[in-house]
Amino acid sequence: DAIRKTGYGNRHMGLYPIKVNPLRHVVAEIQDAGRAYGMGLECGSRAELAAAMPHLRGDRHLLVCNGVKDESMLALAMDAQRLGRQVIPVVQSPEEFAALCTIAARRGDDPTLGVRIRLSNGTLDRWDRYAVPDAKFGLSPADLLELLAQYPDALPRLGLLHFHVGSQVTDLTRLQHAAAEAAQVYASLIQRGAGLRYLDVGGGLGVEYGDAPGSPAGLGYSLADYAHAIVAAVNEVCRSRSVPHPVLVCESGRAVTAHHSVLIVPVLSVRERRGLTADTVTPPQAGDATALLIRQALHGPAPVNAGDASALLSRAHHAYGKVGASFAEGRVAMEEFAVAERAFVTVARRIVEYLGRTGLPVPAQIGPLVRSLADRVLCDFSVFQSLPDHWGSGQTFPVMPIDRLNERPTRHGILVDLTCDADGRIDRYISSDPDATALPLHAPRPGVRTELGFFLMGAYEDVLGAPHNLLGRVPEVHVRTDECAAQGFRIENIVPATTVADLLTQMGYLEAELRGAMGDIVASMTVTDELSAEAGYGLIDRYAKCLEQGTYYETGDVAGPKS
Ligand SMILES: Cc1ncc(COP(=O)(O)O)c(C=O)c1O
Repeated sequence: DAIRKTGYGNRHMGLYPIKVNPLRHVVAEIQDAGRAYGMGLECGSRAELAAAMPHLRGDRHLLVCNGVKDESMLALAMDAQRLGRQVIPVVQSPEEFAALCTIAARRGDDPTLGVRIRLSNGTLDRWDRYAVPDAKFGLSPADLLELLAQYPDALPRLGLLHFHVGSQVTDLTRLQHAAAEAAQVYASLIQRGAGLRYLDVGGGLGVEYGDAPGSPAGLGYSLADYAHAIVAAVNEVCRSRSVPHPVLVCESGRAVTAHHSVLIVPVLSVRERRGLTADTVTPPQAGDATALLIRQALHGPAPVNAGDASALLSRAHHAYGKVGASFAEGRVAMEEFAVAERAFVTVARRIVEYLGRTGLPVPAQIGPLVRSLADRVLCDFSVFQSLPDHWGSGQTFPVMPIDRLNERPTRHGILVDLTCDADGRIDRYISSDPDATALPLHAPRPGVRTELGFFLMGAYEDVLGAPHNLLGRVPEVHVRTDECAAQGFRIENIVPATTVADLLTQMGYLEAELRGAMGDIVASMTVTDELSAEAGYGLIDRYAKCLEQGTYYETGDVAGPKS
């Protein structure tokens, strides 16, 4: 659309950056779906290049080779060109430029190459406009001119110009400035005789994770806005400088894969912060503060406005603080402190519910309280394995129950994972409240399994995760929509979870050695009659089964008999 509307004189080509989700099924699916559109691939390491090269279908599809490349990678890219494939090594630094030209001369090759350029990135209003931009990779215009003077034969072989401003760009003007600046470099090089055909704008197309527009992570632009910003910027430069329009290449991985994957997480238990029961009696020795809290909890009025809510809460908070201080000094019994805590929870919850019901904003000082009143919901997952971007950079993902969707949630919960780490939890949630630190949830029903959906998991999360606490990959089910199937979909493939033995092998343990050592311990105890042979067999059997199990929570009878 953007090409048609602006009258841009060339076409668009998409490349899938393998690093965003390198799983074989994902890459193959994207290649299949993208074949009709000439979708190619982008790789950034030797392993990615090795995975991609054999899958290049014909010479129509581009494989752009980014990242730091040693001699063997540069040679491999040239080999692919000898095979008639469009594999373009994109030079990231002056040293790589020199290495590529030297290897090509040695082999007698005449390879097409690309260069990654380092832009000032539209920092037009800022003092650092004149500073050397702080990008990790890329050649500045000064570097490029110097290298082309040194290696003049490279100019006609220069086929692709690349830049990348970052993933999940939230400010479209930044990308637009970058595209305009790159187009100026493109036009200057064309006018000097470069053989440039492609302008590769890298990644950056954002995904709407649900953050409010205007918030730092909010997107606030559509796919059409994105396309228009780039096409219009390049179009304008090419027209004004009377150079042919390049093929516009983009390397959007996040926007292509994020939506395909949902993580289904079972809830294992819900720990509620309980309030007072109606039949609570004031302990005989209770001090004034405890008595006040109990009165407030059992007979206290509901707040009538936001100011009243704050006043009621601060009285309760003050009283609870007093009981806590007395307990620490040994002047209040543990039973009294326990009742005071339950009473405080009742009062605080009433106020929070009042604010929620009336839609009044939660005052800043009550925020932490809302969080502390929330249930702790233990879920069968690991933040480190499945949500690494939440742990590492605080990114939020949409999470919600996948059942009871026509019921209003009445509780709030904080999701905690199986790992032993305090930060193995989800601290921020997508919600109409930009600071939501707890997730609205239904009250659990005894005997009914609750499952939560973690959405938009397909980009990066599938591959960045680490087996911290030795929690490995989760099982995968590949589902394809199918209008002919009774339910409208079919299950195409099931990939089992990592087993304990798999993971231990990755960590350098030898399964046979582990089994042997366990066997020796049991054998030595049966010899001395400290353990019966039957108990010994049972023990060995359960250890062997543990190695075959997945690394997550197992339900069912696996505990073995009473000793
Ligand atoms: C060179 C390059 N191309 C493409 C991408 C993918 O970008 P995105 O995550 O915006 O799809 C990245 C990611 O940072 C990248 O470094």
